[in-house]
Amino acid sequence: MSVANYFESLDYGLAPEADSNVRDWLKGHDASFGHFIDGAFRPSKDGKTLSTREPATGDELAKIAQGSAEDVDDAVAVATKAQASWEGLGGKGRARHIYALARMVQRHARLFAVLEALDNGKPIRETRDLDIPLVARHFYHHAGWAELQDTELADYKPIGVVGQIIPWNFPLLMLAWKVAPALALGNTVVLKPAEATPLTALLFAELAARSGLPAGVLNVVTGDGATGAALVKHDGVGKIAFTGSTEVGRIIRAETAGSGKSLTLELGGKSPFIVFDDADMESAVEGVVDAIWFNQGQVCCAGSRLLVHEGIHDRFIARLKERMNALRVGHPLDKAIDMGAIIEQSQLERISALVGKGVEEGAEAYVPDIQTPENGCFYPPTLLTGVEPASTVATEEIFGPVMVAMSFRTPDEAVALANNTRYGLAASVWSENISLALDIAPQLKAGVVWVNATNLFDAGVGFGGYRESGYGREGGLEGAYEYLKPNAWSARKPRKPVPPVPVVEATDSFEPMAVDRTAKLYIGGKQVRPDGNYSLTVISPKGKVIGEMGEGNRKDIRNAVQAARKAAGWATASTHLRAQILYYLGENLAARTDEFVARLSAMTGVKKTDAEREVETAIGRLFTYAAWADKFDGAVHSPPLRGVALAMNEPIGVAGVICPDEAPLLSFVSLVAPLMAMGNRVVAIPSERYGLIAADFYQVLETSDVPAGVLNIVTGYTKELARTLADHDDVDAVWAFGDREISEMAEARSVGNMKRTFVDNGLATNWYDPKVAEGRLFLRNAVQVKNIWIPYGE
Ligand code: NAI
Repeated sequence: MSVANYFESLDYGLAPEADSNVRDWLKGHDASFGHFIDGAFRPSKDGKTLSTREPATGDELAKIAQGSAEDVDDAVAVATKAQASWEGLGGKGRARHIYALARMVQRHARLFAVLEALDNGKPIRETRDLDIPLVARHFYHHAGWAELQDTELADYKPIGVVGQIIPWNFPLLMLAWKVAPALALGNTVVLKPAEATPLTALLFAELAARSGLPAGVLNVVTGDGATGAALVKHDGVGKIAFTGSTEVGRIIRAETAGSGKSLTLELGGKSPFIVFDDADMESAVEGVVDAIWFNQGQVCCAGSRLLVHEGIHDRFIARLKERMNALRVGHPLDKAIDMGAIIEQSQLERISALVGKGVEEGAEAYVPDIQTPENGCFYPPTLLTGVEPASTVATEEIFGPVMVAMSFRTPDEAVALANNTRYGLAASVWSENISLALDIAPQLKAGVVWVNATNLFDAGVGFGGYRESGYGREGGLEGAYEYLKPNAWSARKPRKPVPPVPVVEATDSFEPMAVDRTAKLYIGGKQVRPDGNYSLTVISPKGKVIGEMGEGNRKDIRNAVQAARKAAGWATASTHLRAQILYYLGENLAARTDEFVARLSAMTGVKKTDAEREVETAIGRLFTYAAWADKFDGAVHSPPLRGVALAMNEPIGVAGVICPDEAPLLSFVSLVAPLMAMGNRVVAIPSERYGLIAADFYQVLETSDVPAGVLNIVTGYTKELARTLADHDDVDAVWAFGDREISEMAEARSVGNMKRTFVDNGLATNWYDPKVAEGRLFLRNAVQVKNIWIPYGE
């Protein structure tokens, strides 16, 4: 087409970015790459290779090594060797390296941007203006955490060697999200990029080495899922950080269960994009473009479910269709395009199949009459309307440029529809009425909420999911903690086995205070008989019967979970009220000190003075968490954008707590109190051996104004009860303290609904030491951070 024709048609001409820099770099390596280990490229041990292709043309860009378990082994050995001296540099020493990485990214921004666009197929406009600047920002921000680490994070130390597995949708950005905090805080890394997009990670590693990063600190092992699996299994790795599909996230959770490895998972989503009738329509339409056509919709937090207020639905959809007609799909290096290529043929087929299914299920598909390149992996922007909330396309992550639209009548209905998903990564709310927007935001079950905006990210603002979108946060202080472990916990040793229950000397051998009552269970604010009507006999160390304790079963656990679900008001009760109730609980326990001391000594055989110490410490712990209840606040972040992000510490929901035998009253209180303080409802399984002490607690609860259902206690056989709790889909978190097997079981079985887990792996906790057994570590595990981005200022 001539220039004159372009003028006539008012169409854009091609504006391609040159790619000679990338071609030269590839040529310099003979378009063939090994793993980057110990500061240099080395081939795969077994010589196997994979191809990485340009999605826009299908042409091979380079050959990469297919990592074997042996290659992973080499990389972990090198990373282990390098870790001590890297940690030894101290925060300030490392900060200089991390700053250097940020500057290195900026210096080579064009090379990175073009390479990313070619390898992934995304528009150069996005890699140049978003991905690469954000990568640099992540390194700058985390260089700052390294700088402050020795003073601000002095109670923590690095985990050691971390394994990081990343997807193909934001190859270099995901590297930055993971590598920047890990290295800044003193860990060394083995990174496994996605098999489809390994090149920017290899370029990064090469340039990092050139800019002085010590050898072995950052290692890149390329390959497919099998390489990732070998990294996950490796014993030398202290943590796995994964971003990718929920399906693989589940496999990794199950694989690492009981291993003691720490784990963060950033998984899929089906995020709602809610437009109220008072929204600024033009901005909201532009928002949709950014929500679902950014990166061809291959974004974990893509706003992929459009929920429009009924009154404006038709007008909004009409305007959106008009806007779609002006979108341009084309070669990623064309600076004038809106959408590039889909990552690979299999994803393209998956998207087509899901759209086909949507149409089959009654949705109407709108595809604008625009050109898409004939060859290569392209899919046009697509809008599905008339979608049923329960249909496949409204519930499954499509991971492509496909928006599904529904309407709602009232704000309550909008919230119900928005939360009608197993995911909970992000949400976007559009309204010019700030009261309405800020009324809706807290009700959304999502880790990130954007008000009148979408897809905003910053290194200083945590990112991560609720529910099956995974757990842990990346970015911000909460993200930094994911790469640290508390010093106080490092001295923990495996728990000594409790001596076996003695044989009862004689059936009439009772402790004097016993058997005036058979303890029941405590469910929904009431003492209730166990479903099976059975009880367990509690025996003293001298072999005497102390009393009878209710033997709960699966049905009792289910009833307790149901009662906890019903007590939802606790999550939104004022922090002042929660503080008062916990104080009162402490006072009521204090009033019964003598009774608890007598029971503890009779049951565990400890000296009276030790029992007194336990009761006193338990009372103190309740007061501590009463104090924390209205003080463990979030933060207000000021990202370099026109807005602020409110980081809110929200309760997780219903938490199951499995208590150990040691210090049975104190450990029980130490576990349930932080959860309650933060607004969670609890189903607790007290120590199997000494559960009677929790049964004595029923009366303290009954006189303490704790609303019904907030704390439920089911005594009985721990393993059986714990299994039911860990399997239950209405339980959002499980804390398992006790033997290692229980930790492993709780983690392995958490995969159904991706429960948050907090376990001790059979390591004994000194419940008397506040540095070990109370405070921020427990509080952080009792909340999930929601970041609400709101426009603010000029
Ligand atoms: P995936 O989850 O299979 O791959 C992500 C990373 O995990 C890659 O590096 C891969 O090699 C690795 N991996 C695969 N199996 C593994 C295993 N068993 N152990 C350890 N590592 C393993 O994602 P995939 O196949 O690339 O895409 C499939 C779907 O996943 C997409 O359609 C999309 O729905 C979702 N997805 C979500 C992403 C997100 O950011 N939430 C990113 C990429 C994909």
